[in-house]
Amino acid sequence: MRVQLYIKLLFILFLFGCTKIAPKPIAPNIIPKPLIQKLNNTTFILDEKTFIESNLKFKKIAFFLSTYFEEKHQLKLSTIKNKNTIVFEQDLSIENDEGYLLKVSSNKILITSKTVKGAFYAVQSLIQLLPVKTNAKTIAIQGLEIKDSPEFKYRGMHLDVARHFFSVNFIKKYIDLMSMLKMNTFHWHLTEDQGWRIEIKKYPKLQEIAAYRDETLVGHYSEQPQKFDGKKYGGYYTQKEIKEIVAYATERQITVIPEIEMPGHSQAAIAAYPELGCTGEQVKVAAKWGVFDNIYCPKENTFKFLEDIIDEVVTLFPGKYIHIGGDEAPKTNWKKCTHCQQLIKKEGLKDENGLQSYFITRMEKYINSKGKQIIGWDEILEGGLAPNATVMSWRGTAGAVEAAKQKHNVILTPASHCYFDHYQSDNENEPLAIGGFLPLEKVYSFQPIPEELTEEEAKYVLGAQGNVWTEYITTPEKVEYMVFPRAVALAEAVWSTSENKNYDNFIKRLEFFNKRLKSLDVNYANHLYEIKGELINLDKQLSYRLETSIKDKEIRFTTDDSEPKSTSPVYNNPFKINALKTIKAAIFDKNGNQLGQVFEQKITLHKGVGEKITLNTPPNEAYNAGGKQALINGISGSSSRYGDKEWLGFSEKDVEITIDFDKQTKLNSIATRFYNGNGQWIYAPKEVNLEIKLTNGKTISLKNKVKRTDSLLVNFSLKDFIPESENSKVDQIKIIIPNYGIIPENKQGAGHKAWTFIDEIIIN
Ligand code: ACM
Ligand code: ZN
Repeated sequence: MRVQLYIKLLFILFLFGCTKIAPKPIAPNIIPKPLIQKLNNTTFILDEKTFIESNLKFKKIAFFLSTYFEEKHQLKLSTIKNKNTIVFEQDLSIENDEGYLLKVSSNKILITSKTVKGAFYAVQSLIQLLPVKTNAKTIAIQGLEIKDSPEFKYRGMHLDVARHFFSVNFIKKYIDLMSMLKMNTFHWHLTEDQGWRIEIKKYPKLQEIAAYRDETLVGHYSEQPQKFDGKKYGGYYTQKEIKEIVAYATERQITVIPEIEMPGHSQAAIAAYPELGCTGEQVKVAAKWGVFDNIYCPKENTFKFLEDIIDEVVTLFPGKYIHIGGDEAPKTNWKKCTHCQQLIKKEGLKDENGLQSYFITRMEKYINSKGKQIIGWDEILEGGLAPNATVMSWRGTAGAVEAAKQKHNVILTPASHCYFDHYQSDNENEPLAIGGFLPLEKVYSFQPIPEELTEEEAKYVLGAQGNVWTEYITTPEKVEYMVFPRAVALAEAVWSTSENKNYDNFIKRLEFFNKRLKSLDVNYANHLYEIKGELINLDKQLSYRLETSIKDKEIRFTTDDSEPKSTSPVYNNPFKINALKTIKAAIFDKNGNQLGQVFEQKITLHKGVGEKITLNTPPNEAYNAGGKQALINGISGSSSRYGDKEWLGFSEKDVEITIDFDKQTKLNSIATRFYNGNGQWIYAPKEVNLEIKLTNGKTISLKNKVKRTDSLLVNFSLKDFIPESENSKVDQIKIIIPNYGIIPENKQGAGHKAWTFIDEIIIN
């Protein structure tokens, strides 16, 4: 045996020593999916003999690529011309400025583009054809031809560095990751109530005072009583660091848009210079999250201050845009301020919204005079849009529609599809987030052009952006967790054509892309092996469906409360549910190894489950993950989060829920829960009214007050509401839930209408 083994070993050594085993290329898995990609039967061998040939125009890109080979693969290319080459060529006939051609054949990789940008994207695609990590001195690249160009010209990621501050190195990593995805704009949210993060030489107190807060809220805003950590927190980027980051981004074909918020979200600046506010009162840099009444007062000295800031900002950011915020500026102080009221009269403005429009328009004029354009959040539509402004639509897409119809450029960042600070999984173990629910598939499905726009109006849609607000994102690792892989999905949503988008195919490529992220030390979230369950009504038989995004693996499940094992039944089709059940399931690979976590769902079969439900108004797009049936699907929502797919959220409107019973039904009780997260503008209703249609033809109307409380969950239940004398069954029940109304003074969202969040309606 020994001798045999020795001979075998010798033989293997001989094989490796004498014959060159040709490396095999990896299969192309490029994200975002290129416009056209055709494989051929060749392989390009990249090694130390490979030479890069480029003219002066593409020298920097060529250098970027050779540096990449050196740093990632320890592969130093040849400095003398060789048969085996990577060639950069310009072709002015390529229509799209960001487009490129990439041809890989046995001895040549040809990159053709009109611009440096196009060449850079070709390089990014080429990099994705390389193995994730190898120190081999010979790398095989699959022969192919790619013709590629983006659908949208604005492809952005945002980062709030004010709620939490992130190092220069991390910002560079963020930019690197964006560039891998062919994103071209970094929206840098630099000023906030909780901190001012950009050095302004003329105003040193912005560095000394506005950049630091005394302490920070611990836990979620909705937790009562609120707790603080008692630790000073802050920091800012020096102008030198900002220039360094902008240069770094420019090399990666990314434009940086600075956001200097006005007139709202300015409490930190007002803490440093109280005269900028209406009251002149000394305030503190905010230590908790929310919307604050301390906004800039439109006085001459305020405009002088902001113009001075713009003067410094324009020297740091070579891009065309400056974002001026404009969102969430309560007019509480303006209403009480003599100066503000006189200005409204003097300028013939309609009201405080008119004054906001005056404010923004005046700043726009100044910014335009510096050769720059403004972008503002969709609130800048209120009171009239500044003449040249681009609108960033975040409160849904209505702002985008309105602005495009007014022939203004728009960028889509609706919370429903683009807020990466929301939860991405309804797993109870997810790290704390602000709320909401935005799973990967929903990001992937995002269509930036709102349906309401004509083809002509759609031309004003520049693209879309993922927003990353960092109230609850305290570390770089958590930024990565929240952003990846959702940014990967968004990248494809804005780059690839509709015909090229397919979620199952995306997921397969993502499984591979995740390995790339891992090699780059990115703390991405992995919910690929998560299972989703749904109660469905199949021919009046309640059944349960299990689903996962990874199609080539097995789901195994149990219904007897035991843990799923590699020997548990394999799920193929929906199975019948007849009684109260706990379903557990997990994904297993071919070798019987469990991937991901166990899915667990308790189903409470009550009399409403599977019946017909109608709503007078649809839930808000961002809080409608489960659809209307979620209200009577036997599954209750989370007790700590309102954003999962079992809660439905309604903005402003009164809600009427009608449940029609297929069979006449005897009823004794009805119960539900309301979320009452007042910090998020969510209020339980003041009353719940019922209209019950009885089988005997009568209708019973009931008005019920809901007890007021500060607790996060408000229960509502009613028993024995049908008088025994009626001795009747029920055909239909209508539940009328009037909106709480206007949020009172001194509360988050004061002056706005509240949101209503409703959980499972349990009927027995
Ligand atoms: C925003 O989320 N306040 C733009
Ligand atoms: Zn004022």
